[in-house]
This record gives sequence, structure tokens and C-alpha cells, in this order.
Amino acid sequence: MEIISDKAAMAARSEAVRLEGKTIAFVPTMGYLHEGHLSLLKKGRSLCDYLVLSIFVNPTQFGPNEDLDAYPRDEERDQKVAREAGVDAIFMPNNEMMYGPNYQTYVALEKLPYHLCGLSRPVHFRGVATVVTKLFNIVRPHTAIFGEKDFQQLAVIRQMVKDLDFGIEIIGGPTVREPDGLAMSSRNAYLTPEQRKDAAALYKSLNQAQEMVSAGEKSAAAILEKASETILAVPGAEIDYAKLCDPATLDDVEAIAGPALMALAVKIGATRLIDNKVLEP
Ligand code: PAF
Repeated sequence: MEIISDKAAMAARSEAVRLEGKTIAFVPTMGYLHEGHLSLLKKGRSLCDYLVLSIFVNPTQFGPNEDLDAYPRDEERDQKVAREAGVDAIFMPNNEMMYGPNYQTYVALEKLPYHLCGLSRPVHFRGVATVVTKLFNIVRPHTAIFGEKDFQQLAVIRQMVKDLDFGIEIIGGPTVREPDGLAMSSRNAYLTPEQRKDAAALYKSLNQAQEMVSAGEKSAAAILEKASETILAVPGAEIDYAKLCDPATLDDVEAIAGPALMALAVKIGATRLIDNKVLEP
């Protein structure tokens, strides 16, 4: 496994792989790898000849009061995990390499970011779309795999790839969960043991919502009220949003008439967790 920090070297490696007629799968991450990332790497490994993982904690997707400095990092462990997962190259640029002096170009979408996480994290999706564009241009993959836990991010990337004709196949990987249902996330590392137990309330509320829909409940307000009750039973929990929306547009739905995305962002203490489930009537 090669570890590449220089973007010209990464681009040259990809070019050489392409010239050999081989296909490239790409899993972009911010590191601190967990089972969720491993499932994306496994998918990539099965689809293409050459597997690239990027690890870059992208400063432009964090707001001024967010956890950029505290974001968990463990390069040595990540490299070991990547090697075991059959990664061919890890691209690990630094800030200077990605955003040099006088950097001034950003990629922004017009609709999808103005929902869900984008409302409380106004620069987030501009930062994600920008860094993913740059990573795609450097790595030049045939296929890229992103987790469905970040449903809105996946929607933004699919839209961007379509609008800007990237010609890259985007694949969503199912959310990987802890035994109690908590979605795997690098940010789970911030939780105290007590908060870690309480965090299972998100998954519990998603399942309760599905049960209500299966029993014939159509009112989004009733479903969301039950979810709030379950989540707010956790001491110190604060709901950023609990929404039912159209999975394609992310517009709110008031009555369930087809598959509806239930999306949650909840702060447990200082840790903001997200999760989602497409509810099927
Ligand atoms: O999902 C993530 O880890 C990040 O948002 C991504 C896609 C690697 C961009 O920085």
C-alpha cells in the first residue's frame, strides 16, 4: 500500500493505473476509520481493480464554532486498518496542499443544502462539494462510495456529479450500526459511556416511526412528536432537527404517501449525531 501526500503524485499514480486499463474505486474519508468505512472499502475493493482511500479533515466544511480542531485523528491505526482492507493507495494531503495561498474557488448547490444539516451548518455542503470535486479531479476514480448515514451529503454529491458531468459512478453504502443500533460514526468517540448508551435513542425513534407508519399512521406531525418524546427522554439531549422529507428533494412532507426520509440531528451533551431511515408505508 502506498501512502501519498502530494496531489501531483496521486494524480500520476491514477493516470498510470488508468493507462494499464484498470478501474479505480475511491472512498473519501476524514479518517478515524470504523466499521462503516470498512464496509465502503470492501464495496470498493469488490468493484474495481485499484482502491484509493483519502484521509483529509477538510477545514472548509466546518463552521467557526464546530469541532475541526477536536476531530478525532489516528493516522497510524487508520493505515493499519486500510492495509488490512486491501487499500492500494491512501491519499493524505495537508491543508496547504488542498487549499494553497489565495485559494478562492468553491462549489455550491442551489437547493439541496438548504434543508436538514445545511440549515444549522451553513458552510458545510459548500465545503463538502468543493473538497469532493478537488479529490475527484486528483484521484480520477471510475466509482466513488459514500455512506448512506450522511444521506444529505450523498444526495448533494449525486446531484453535483450529475450537474457537472463528472462521469463517476456514485454508490451509497448502507449505514453500519453498533449492536444497540447506534450508527457508526467517528464522532461517537466523543461520547461518555453514559451518553453512548443514551445515543441509542436515535435508532429507537427511527424504528418507532417505521412501526407507526406500518400501522397506518400518515401524519408527519404525529410521527415526529413521538420521536421527540423518545429522544428528549434522554437527559441533556437537544434536537437540532427531526424531519420527514421527500428522499429526492429533501422538502418536508406532511402526510406519508410513499417512501419518506426520516432524518435526525441530535446533540447528546456537546456531541451532534445524525441518523436517518427511509420509512416505507
Ligand atoms: O463524509 C466525510 O467523511 C466527508 O464529508 C468527506 C466526504 C470525506 C468530505 O470531506
